[in-house]
Amino acid sequence: MTEIHLGGGVGTRPEHESTGFTIWFTGLSGSGKSTITALLERDLRARGHKVEVLDGDVVRTHLSKGLGFSKEDRDTNIRRIGWVCEVLSRNDVVAIAAAISPYREIRNEVRASIGRFVEVYVTAPLEVLADRDVKGLYRKAMAGEISNFTGVNDPYEEPLNPEVICYSDGSETPDQSSAKVIAKLQELKYLSSGDVR
Ligand code: ADX
Repeated sequence: MTEIHLGGGVGTRPEHESTGFTIWFTGLSGSGKSTITALLERDLRARGHKVEVLDGDVVRTHLSKGLGFSKEDRDTNIRRIGWVCEVLSRNDVVAIAAAISPYREIRNEVRASIGRFVEVYVTAPLEVLADRDVKGLYRKAMAGEISNFTGVNDPYEEPLNPEVICYSDGSETPDQSSAKVIAKLQELKYLSSGDVR
């Protein structure tokens, strides 16, 4: 008897094992998540992969438009980003998320639902970030003009077991950080050690 498979829409798993996976960047605002992500995206494309980046700042202008920075809204934001990453990952795309994602429990929830998941923690001391203050937000938060600002007057829960830690305090360059992620992806066999897939 011939079996007929209907569907193929969102929610349907492809029958082959996907070559996609998710790289999840977490860390404080201004820690360098987007900078490293851009380098990684370029490198992965050069290796022949389809890549999509989900950046918190960008996602908040459409998919998560209207959400604020309460724990509840952040959790909703992260679950939405996680869901998109899951769909992409099971369809041969490398999804890269770059969002503060301050809560460990939600990151782990997203990890569990995606499965093929690599967590990258980008870290620098708060003083360094406040000093750089690329967007001028730390100054405002420290002056009490922004409440619930992560790292200043809102929590950030460090990952306990991230696959990669990138130090963005100046001790490694963004290129070196990106190279560390690539090396880990090869070690975990998400990428072949050859150049092109
Ligand atoms: S998350 O907590 O939900 O993961 P997300 O990464 O999407 O945050 O957005 C963080 C960005 O929003 C920051 O880089 C910063 O530009 C901006 N932002 C505005 N208000 C806050 C705040 N209270 N806490 C953190 N980031 C804020």
